[in-house]
Amino acid sequence: MVKLIAGNWKMHGTAADLPEVRAIAARASQLAGQVEVALCVPATLIHRAAEAVPGFTIGAQDIHHRPKGAHTGDVCAAMLHDAGASMAIVGHSERREAHSEADADVKAKAEAGLAAGLKIILCVGESLDVREGGEAVATVAAQVDASLPAGPVDPALFSLAYEPIWAIGTGKVAGPAEIGEMHAAIRERLVAAYGEPGGQVRILYGGSVKADNAAAIFAVPDVGGALVGGASLSAADFLPIVEAAL
Ligand code: PGA
Repeated sequence: MVKLIAGNWKMHGTAADLPEVRAIAARASQLAGQVEVALCVPATLIHRAAEAVPGFTIGAQDIHHRPKGAHTGDVCAAMLHDAGASMAIVGHSERREAHSEADADVKAKAEAGLAAGLKIILCVGESLDVREGGEAVATVAAQVDASLPAGPVDPALFSLAYEPIWAIGTGKVAGPAEIGEMHAAIRERLVAAYGEPGGQVRILYGGSVKADNAAAIFAVPDVGGALVGGASLSAADFLPIVEAAL
């Protein structure tokens, strides 16, 4: 499967940023079949972004796990799909931390998104304390086990992202050995959960991916792409990362 390079715009982006979306989508369409590219934008921008770049994957950054109801301020999977999203991130550490999302919540969100026809990127990752305590692999493996949606899954529609929390927005990147060890552990859990298709699910790396470190990250075995925050906000920063995945 080709690599998936997804941008996570977090709480950045208004209509003024649509030219960046257009520039990224234009290059992505030239590279169709060689690399898959997506932008997960704020909910308020999904509709305009999707209309601006038909055929390009616009995603959301969270999903409420229920299909409807009395949930003030929340947005369900069918609404995101209706607005033009074809993908969503679930379980990002900023959601797990700031909104107290547990593994069971993340699993329910992933299942709701897949049921509504959204591609899903499910994030896992350890804190610095956990890494320094030598528990990173065990902690992330347990997160994976408890967060995975019930199978079967289609590897074209479902990806994992390993994002060490200490590498997000810090400029610190996990080393090749750390990434390789963690991706191997995640792969084992995916195969245990899903059998052969679990061997095909892409495992992205996320955490301070930039143009100048992307090629080294993609050279690590079993890195199936990247989830990119800060460096996805402009075409000038993001497209070199996309090119590094070719
Ligand atoms: P960063 O964010 O690339 O800015 O470190 C990655 C993420 O949080 O998905």
